[in-house]
Amino acid sequence: MTTLPLPVVRTVADLRAAVAEWRRQGLSVGFVPTMGALHDGHLSLVREAGAQADRVVTSVFVNPTQFAAHEDLGTYPRQEDRDAQLLASAGCHLLFAPESDAMYPEGFATRIEVGGPSQGMETDFRPHFFGGVAVVVAKLLNQVQADVAVFGEKDYQQLMVVRRLTADLDIPTRIVGAPTGRDGWGLALSSRNAYLSEQERGIARRLNGVLAEAGARARNASPSEAEAWACEALLEAGFDRVDYVAIRRVDDLAPFADAIDAPARILAAAWLGKTRLIDNLPV
Ligand code: PAF
Repeated sequence: MTTLPLPVVRTVADLRAAVAEWRRQGLSVGFVPTMGALHDGHLSLVREAGAQADRVVTSVFVNPTQFAAHEDLGTYPRQEDRDAQLLASAGCHLLFAPESDAMYPEGFATRIEVGGPSQGMETDFRPHFFGGVAVVVAKLLNQVQADVAVFGEKDYQQLMVVRRLTADLDIPTRIVGAPTGRDGWGLALSSRNAYLSEQERGIARRLNGVLAEAGARARNASPSEAEAWACEALLEAGFDRVDYVAIRRVDDLAPFADAIDAPARILAAAWLGKTRLIDNLPV
């Protein structure tokens, strides 16, 4: 079966006209924000949005405000034609691909600081990150005005920050978290996996197993002992550096004192060469 080319809009006015036409027809709208370089993990989010709404908008925008000057904004993979084909095959109805100037015109001066779940972990190593994500997600949700937006659990801290942001700012779009897509060895699918050499990929595939084992150990040891064990195990597996391994409460990402006394999640970020991998699992 051939899929029709996906309609692409680049301005908020065109996006809103398309969404308004669906609304006129009584259709509900789902939204999946992405930075492109799509893989099966993204496509599963699009399918989830399609299961929850009649029409699906996906945005592809490599958001400059969530990258620090030394990070990979310039080299982040960009492949709009391929992304559009994949999106059409996954049941997306509209691609919103704005230019950077349209999102951040001359004079743009708004910052959003989300507290709570943004504290620690990613913020300790990428202090600019959630400020940039909060601004672009608030803008995108306001631009699309979808009924439901789907975010991957792979970026679990981001999902919790988005939930906090939308609750605090009364953004009416319902936020849905979708399970992490993994390859046959359990490696979380990520656009940045494209940077890995074959040898690095073999090491990267150990990450989820180490986190699962650390989660199991945390039942009989303190969270900090289990975290320390996981850091060691990742370095032994061949990771070059571990930014963090953290066991946190699932809902607000608060740390535990000495024992896990509420539903928990283990989250980690570690480096292989120039590639930074993140992953998380329920404990
Ligand atoms: O998860 C991502 O790809 C990005 O952080 C997002 C949510 C699209 C915002 O730029």
